[in-house]
Amino acid sequence: MENYVDLRSDTVTKPTPEMREAMAEAEVGDDVYMDDPTVNKLQEKAAEMLGKEASLFVPSGTMGNLLALLVHCQRGDEVILGDKSHIYMNEVGGMAALGGIHPRPINNQADGTLSFDDILASIQPEDVHHTITRLVCLENTQNVCGGIALSAEYTRAVGKIAHDHHLYLHLDGARIFNAAAVLGVSAKELVEPADSVMFCLSKGLVAPVGSMLAGTRKFIARARHLRKMVGGGMRQVGVLAAAGLISLERMTGRLAQDHARAGKLAEGLKHVKGLVLDAVEGSSTNMVYFNLGDEVRLSVNQIIEEMKKRGVLVDWAGPRRFRLVTHYWVDDAGVEKTLQAFADVLKT
Ligand SMILES: Cc1ncc(COP(=O)(O)O)c(C=O)c1O
Repeated sequence: MENYVDLRSDTVTKPTPEMREAMAEAEVGDDVYMDDPTVNKLQEKAAEMLGKEASLFVPSGTMGNLLALLVHCQRGDEVILGDKSHIYMNEVGGMAALGGIHPRPINNQADGTLSFDDILASIQPEDVHHTITRLVCLENTQNVCGGIALSAEYTRAVGKIAHDHHLYLHLDGARIFNAAAVLGVSAKELVEPADSVMFCLSKGLVAPVGSMLAGTRKFIARARHLRKMVGGGMRQVGVLAAAGLISLERMTGRLAQDHARAGKLAEGLKHVKGLVLDAVEGSSTNMVYFNLGDEVRLSVNQIIEEMKKRGVLVDWAGPRRFRLVTHYWVDDAGVEKTLQAFADVLKT
């Protein structure tokens, strides 16, 4: 896949030479004993950047979200979350399978938000028949709605609703630094209302593996215990944390470049006959979604194959739908090559 322009996801990002060097030289120890100095440094740095008391290095975003739900909820408790959220759609039902937690999905609006009315209407009144509502989850950026950033004001308002009703707020901030970059605010401000937040090092921040879960010291102590339970207690994992530190130090500040390239892609694709770009309602980041027009006779799989022959990897997002994602390894020439390839394929 070396010479392809790979737009399937920002998860495909390989570590930079600087990351590989840092990984080779990382000081390590047994992290289950909390003895790994590189992991400890990463956890301190992530907590500081998010304005939380503590953070925990976890193997994946999925595990970070699962641990947050397991810490906040008891078996039988209910979680209000978006029907297009990653936790609801793409985390293998872990909350139900492993935590006995009941999801209460509500409509993600076109701008990625959950409406205040829908949240309020979903909080269960106390009654012997009802589950106990315990938690609200937001996703920022909202992936399926277009990689759209949710504002700090919106998150504060949801935090207030949650806390007024004695609920916790968890933020799936897999791409929170993309949101911060496009909104021109700090990640700290965006996550301030949340009791817990997960973000990924392994997506636009380019690290090969890993996510961070942050919250109070007490929350993180419990999450650490549960991380061991689900098999996420890693040993000399400073070799991975070393790349994560470079993510935090070097990669958070450059995400606007990915957003600009996604903007260029979207602009160019609008002029390719047969592609119908989503109208984006809000601040979009590194994702471009579009559908195939009715007149296009090629299937998504045929288009994927034809694009591959032209050196561009793309992935489908539905039977007639695509999502392209820009990242560190997609440059301006890659954007041009992609536009040319789509024009070429859809002309045939
Ligand atoms: C919004 C969102 N949350 C969570 C995750 C899960 O991350 P991971 O793939 O590291 O488990 C993803 C992964 O794509 C995501 O897009």
